Amino acid sequence: PLCLRECLDGVVSGGSRSGPCPSAPHLHAPFFQIVDISVPRIAAWNSDELPIYEPGLDKVVKACRGKNLFFSTDLDQGIRDADIIFVAVNTPTKKVGLGAGRAADLTYWELAARRIALVAETPKVVVEKSTVPINTAEAISAVLHGAGKTRFDILSNPEFLAEGTAMTDLDNPDRVLIGGSMSESGQAAVAKLADVYAHWVPRERILTTNVWSSELSKLVANSFLAQRVSSINAVSAICEASGADVDEVARAVGMDSRIGPKFLKASVGFGGSCFQKDILNLVYLCQSMGLPDVAEYFHSVVTMNDRQKERFVSRIIHGLFNTVTGKRIALLGFAFKKDTGDTRESAAIEICRRLIEERASVCIYDPKVEANQIWMDLTAATRLDRTEVEKYVTLCDSAYEAAAGAHALAVATEWDEFKGLDYAKIQDGMVKPSFLFDGRNVLDHGALRKLGYIVYAIGKPLDPKLNTNFC
Ligand code: UDX
Repeated sequence: PLCLRECLDGVVSGGSRSGPCPSAPHLHAPFFQIVDISVPRIAAWNSDELPIYEPGLDKVVKACRGKNLFFSTDLDQGIRDADIIFVAVNTPTKKVGLGAGRAADLTYWELAARRIALVAETPKVVVEKSTVPINTAEAISAVLHGAGKTRFDILSNPEFLAEGTAMTDLDNPDRVLIGGSMSESGQAAVAKLADVYAHWVPRERILTTNVWSSELSKLVANSFLAQRVSSINAVSAICEASGADVDEVARAVGMDSRIGPKFLKASVGFGGSCFQKDILNLVYLCQSMGLPDVAEYFHSVVTMNDRQKERFVSRIIHGLFNTVTGKRIALLGFAFKKDTGDTRESAAIEICRRLIEERASVCIYDPKVEANQIWMDLTAATRLDRTEVEKYVTLCDSAYEAAAGAHALAVATEWDEFKGLDYAKIQDGMVKPSFLFDGRNVLDHGALRKLGYIVYAIGKPLDPKLNTNFC
């Protein structure tokens, strides 16, 4: 079965239903109908070119499509047919109005709920898949029951998939969390959804809680993960100042079984559609609940992340003798992490924005991100029109093309392909001295120095040849 997550944006609702499948009546397993208002997007889901890149997704979609997985634009039929409706619409951070910049925008959620209320003829279980602020279930319940046509049970079932590993996370989740009301019908709804997951998840990993705990757990899980990244990134700044090595510190600290080794990789800053949005959402909740010091505590995770991106850009500028104006910088990677074409909140966007501000010439190569996406991100971030951005930015088809004639290489995403590049050949075509700024600590810095590069790596002892005279 395919689960949905909000990152598959455009997905409005997915229905799951037990019983015989219409196109394959012999099947009594749950089947899934994915419905979306976007005609091109559904057409793409029904074609050989899926609208998103996720390792392993193609295989599952091709194996299940037309059997127990269907994609359609017929929202109303999808709603009428389903026993369980997953709502997986976008809940971005509000851009304007009350809570702008922090609160979640629930417009799409409310629209979906109103549609369900209007169309549903029989009782439904409605599942919050999108990440939402706590108490959303109560508000949604009011909208759903407003029409008074039928009964709805609202469940919270947050998604913990990470992009790039979504299919293995789905197959083998640490846990599945289902929050529901304590009423008899609420508990029956929880059991019904748990039965769907029990097709492939061991029962002991299916946790059931009240709705509020479930909604809050998602925000807290992402805030804790992001907080670990910000903590190790804060440590990376201490390492650069002191001569310690952040990977050695992370290893030593992570071997404490109470701390654990995961999510301690220093980087140019975390990105992705969830971390920043969920923390800001939590911050807003804390502020609204009269807990300003708790809000401030979590907000510092985002502040530290912004600092880390700025620190990286400062290292580039100072390294290149305090100016990058007119200098060519090859940016390797634009996605927020490897194995995805997703750029939401990618650190690369902010790095580019700053380099454009400094009038550098930025040559970008990413193995998966679409050119259009990069132009959209950069015009939005710089508030310049595309012709203006094109004066500073060139998109390249390979790392070699981006690096030709460059003063510096900057690694923003940890794509495996960057580890296997021929750096001697690259250096031949670069301006000397040639600089390399590794924002992901994925390259062999000793070997690169032997080739003659001046290397900066996050949280590593500084290269004596790197200019650190900040002016
Ligand atoms: C995250 C959560 O992991 C997932 O459970 C939730 O459902 C959605 O949000 P995702 O955003 O896909 O998933 O990616 P994740 O692997 O968590 O990485 C987020 C960001 O942190 C990336 O930019 C990544 O490069 C960065 N990161 C992660 C680090 O910089 N260092 C680390 O040690 C780990």
